[in-house]
Amino acid sequence: MSPIRTGFIGAGDIARSHAGILKDNRDVVLGAVYDIKEDISRQFAAEHGMQYLSSIEAVIDDSDAVYIASPNKSHAELTLLALEQKKHVFCEKPFALNLSDAQKIMESGEGNGQIYQLGFNRRFAPVYWKMKELILAGEIFPKSFNIKMNRGELQVPAWLSDPEQTGGFLFESALHLVDIVRYLFGDVRKVTAVGSKSIYPCVDDFSIIFEMESGIHGVFSSTAHATWIFPFERVEIYGDHSSIFNNEMESVSFCLDLESEVEKLEYSQLPIEDRWGYRQENKAFIDRISGQQSDESSLVATKIDGYKNVELLESIYDQIGLGR
Ligand SMILES: NC(=O)c1ccc[n+]([C@@H]2O[C@H](COP(=O)([O-])OP(=O)(O)OC[C@H]3O[C@@H](n4cnc5c(N)ncnc54)[C@H](O)[C@@H]3O)[C@@H](O)[C@H]2O)c1
Repeated sequence: MSPIRTGFIGAGDIARSHAGILKDNRDVVLGAVYDIKEDISRQFAAEHGMQYLSSIEAVIDDSDAVYIASPNKSHAELTLLALEQKKHVFCEKPFALNLSDAQKIMESGEGNGQIYQLGFNRRFAPVYWKMKELILAGEIFPKSFNIKMNRGELQVPAWLSDPEQTGGFLFESALHLVDIVRYLFGDVRKVTAVGSKSIYPCVDDFSIIFEMESGIHGVFSSTAHATWIFPFERVEIYGDHSSIFNNEMESVSFCLDLESEVEKLEYSQLPIEDRWGYRQENKAFIDRISGQQSDESSLVATKIDGYKNVELLESIYDQIGLGR
């Protein structure tokens, strides 16, 4: 099979991370890039040995697979453009900012053998992968959970505090762990949420209760103005005298009964690309396009995950009633 020609729309921080990883993948050739800021596109193209093209359409046309790495607001429109041109799509989270766009993406590109993948790297981060493994192996049967996902600020990049651009703070970092709720515990039956606009012009404090179809339940909190003091992200799972928790994506600890010692797996020495799951998610995308089954490819977030996440977040914002 000839290498997969991969193009980029958006050439900021996360695009740089993906391109750096893809450069080492033998099944990929980096193609063209477009960013609304020409100087950024040109610099990105030079750094990664890519071609600068002056329109989104030209990059899509040039590519077998398109990475969408522009701000949230543009994701749905760009995804639809690429899917309509029968291209494989890797889109950074979020999937879309409302259910009507999410529905259009669900219906686009179906049946054409195109691969779609959402950028939920945490699914592949060793700490969360280990939690999933322990649950799937029946080492722990979760009864309840306690999750938090904070941000230090909404200032860098500047568009992060603008709900017109992001869709609201929950569509930003916090969405990673909303996705982890479904990844670890399955579908959600009911959410109950309160929130407030405390510091930024968007809802920036959330307290949410999840009730899952499986009968288990948990709490989820998120604030956008915490400072970057650790821990800003933590999942605690409680079973029958058993528990698992992580310290960021640095380590995961678990104790599976009252007699055993606590086991701790430490990942802090891994490069961030592996520790945060970026390398693994890129491998999964390329493996899926090449038709190769791999451990990674079974973990991906697909369109249906994207749709369900948007459905959940809409329901949370509707309950809070303060807009985004
Ligand atoms: N999965 C993760 O861990 C992770 C981390 C960071 C960002 N993200 C997501 O990636 C996306 C980009 O975030 P970032 O941190 O790289 O932002 P960034 O501001 O560093 O980069 C975004 C780039 O997109 C360009 N751009 C804006 N509108 C565009 C358009 N319509 N077409 C083409 N280019 C456009 C900007 O000029 C900028 O260079 C966001 O959706 C964000 O939520 C995901």
